[in-house]
Amino acid sequence: MSKWTAAKIKAAKGQHKLVCLTAYDYSTACLVDEAGIHLVLVGDSLAMTMLGHATTLPVSMEEMLSFTAAVVRGVHNALVVADMPFMSYQVSVSQALENAGRFIKEAGADAVKIEGGAFRAATVRVLVENGIPVLGHIGLTPQSIREMGGYKIQGKQPEQGLRILRDAQELEKAGVFAIVLECVPAELAREITQSVAIPTIGIGAGKHCDGQILVIHDLLGLYPGRTPRFAKRYADLANIMKQAFESYHREVTAGLFPADEHSF
Ligand code: KIV
Repeated sequence: MSKWTAAKIKAAKGQHKLVCLTAYDYSTACLVDEAGIHLVLVGDSLAMTMLGHATTLPVSMEEMLSFTAAVVRGVHNALVVADMPFMSYQVSVSQALENAGRFIKEAGADAVKIEGGAFRAATVRVLVENGIPVLGHIGLTPQSIREMGGYKIQGKQPEQGLRILRDAQELEKAGVFAIVLECVPAELAREITQSVAIPTIGIGAGKHCDGQILVIHDLLGLYPGRTPRFAKRYADLANIMKQAFESYHREVTAGLFPADEHSF
């Protein structure tokens, strides 16, 4: 199988669904890649799933670089997208370019993701002109959680829906290779998907998007919090892991581990 590039992801629109997933560490990235996932996002959701923060806001550039480099080491085929953390691209276009460049140069990412619509177009344009593929992200943008007032569905009101549609069109003009649509009504996602020539990747955006993405902890049943309604649990890893830890505890306590075959 040949390596997925941003150009290949873009060209997949209308050909087949794009299957995308987050990953944050080397071992998981190896498995995700072996499963044939097309795009692996090192999401800033790792602030919550890996670091235990209440929101995505506190994660730093250095932390994101370190997790991204680990994922890059495990992935051979998928496109690896690094999520730019809060305040690593909002201050100025030159700040965005410098930090996006670090993800490509230091961590080995193939592309970056930034949140925001039409107002982010100038930033996208400069990154793309400098050879850095950009994945857009509109609808619910978790880095604006303080301003949005909670993790709520976006675009339910017609004028808000129209704004999100315009955001998608402006980002396409600015040069993003695909757009994440988070928590928007399925009908709005269908309209956006039909009105742009680049793939839409939905999360909580219904079935009409060109692709889907999930946070891997939600898919695996691994995050201690509640699974969002839009996510599907494909496994109950939390219970499997807990049972393994309890078995280990029991066997060490009972003197059953290590057995002779584990000893020298
Ligand atoms: O950080 C993340 O995991 C994301 C996905 C929810 C798209 O941005």
